[in-house]
Amino acid sequence: MIKTSILGASGYAGGELLRILLGHTKVKIQETTSRQFANQPVSLIHPNLRKKTDLIFSHPENLKKCDLLFVALPNGESMKYMSKLKTIAKKIIDLGADYRFRDPVVFESWYAQKHTDSQFLSKFVYGIAELHREQIKRTSYIACAGCEATVSILALYPLVKYHLIEEKVIIDAKMSSSQAGLKPSLSSHHPERAGVVRSYLPTGHRHTAEIIQELSPFNNSIGVAISATALDMVRGLLVTIHTVPKKGITEKDIWKAYRNEYQNEPFIRIVKERQGIYRYPEPKILQGTNFCDIGFEMDKITNRLVVIAAIDNLVKGTAGQAIQAMNLMFGFPETMGLEFTGLHPI
Ligand SMILES: NC(=O)c1ccc[n+]([C@@H]2O[C@H](COP(=O)([O-])OP(=O)(O)OC[C@H]3O[C@@H](n4cnc5c(N)ncnc54)[C@H](OP(=O)(O)O)[C@@H]3O)[C@@H](O)[C@H]2O)c1
Repeated sequence: MIKTSILGASGYAGGELLRILLGHTKVKIQETTSRQFANQPVSLIHPNLRKKTDLIFSHPENLKKCDLLFVALPNGESMKYMSKLKTIAKKIIDLGADYRFRDPVVFESWYAQKHTDSQFLSKFVYGIAELHREQIKRTSYIACAGCEATVSILALYPLVKYHLIEEKVIIDAKMSSSQAGLKPSLSSHHPERAGVVRSYLPTGHRHTAEIIQELSPFNNSIGVAISATALDMVRGLLVTIHTVPKKGITEKDIWKAYRNEYQNEPFIRIVKERQGIYRYPEPKILQGTNFCDIGFEMDKITNRLVVIAAIDNLVKGTAGQAIQAMNLMFGFPETMGLEFTGLHPI
């Protein structure tokens, strides 16, 4: 049994960590922090956890030593505290963007702030198990990927690895409201957010940088462009990725690449059916699960390969990814605690 604590446990990612870890038989949750809700029950903010836990939020300043610390703070916060956090836990899994980049200049240009702990970046392993499993097993520090980056990287990685597509890739991303976190803003205010199909970042999405970082070892001139649209859903993320297949590439080649990389992956499913309603990935039926569903279609008329992929942003896109990495770090079965199959109908 390992002792874990969650810094930033009142947030959406923190709440999802709690939900999953409370069902994990090898983990004891020691502390859950929140400044705003210190001394209040966790179930006040995460009502789904009533009767599952009587944990009380504690103030982050009082964190005690533990085996593993999950850090679920807003981007740009964890680097401010990392030198202290390293004395609290030997192993750290950070869900934010601060330690995702190998090059601090990339972080600084996309996040418009100075990196204040850049000498520690090289200690962190990027948290996507499907790409970095062996490194994750050996490291003490993990930086989980952004949710949009996770689904896009998983969809594209076999295609880039096996040189099946041209360099220009266009990602049309449909986003949910929980991706913005707990803190309200004018754009999350119900009258402004309900019912929207809002094109909020047609260019310049920050996760572009992570996708390029992870795919460039396989093709260093890969060009990725994201256009993001906010939809009226609370959880879930769908990407429709437009690519151009290289000359002579067939559907069989695409199948083979996905099969080679993913047939033994417990959380990746290739979804491409001829019949039924759910013929392609669909975030609705992935809610609460750690799956990433990937489908594709070749368009011979316009010479495109369209790839469709979906995740739950709060699970495979963050907390589930983090727990998958934790399982690898501590030698637990990789799927432990992450077996939920989702609901249908939902
Ligand atoms: N939401 C998603 O879908 C998603 C997906 C992928 C990755 N992530 C990443 O996960 C991290 C958390 O995201 P979230 O959506 O859960 O955010 P959130 O809902 O805003 O939660 C942030 C948490 O951090 C705490 N906090 C904020 N500033 C703090 C500080 N200076 N010191 C201590 N605690 C502080 C907040 O509680 P108090 O203010 O009460 O202390 C809260 O518990 C982010 O870095 C995000 O990039 C989120």
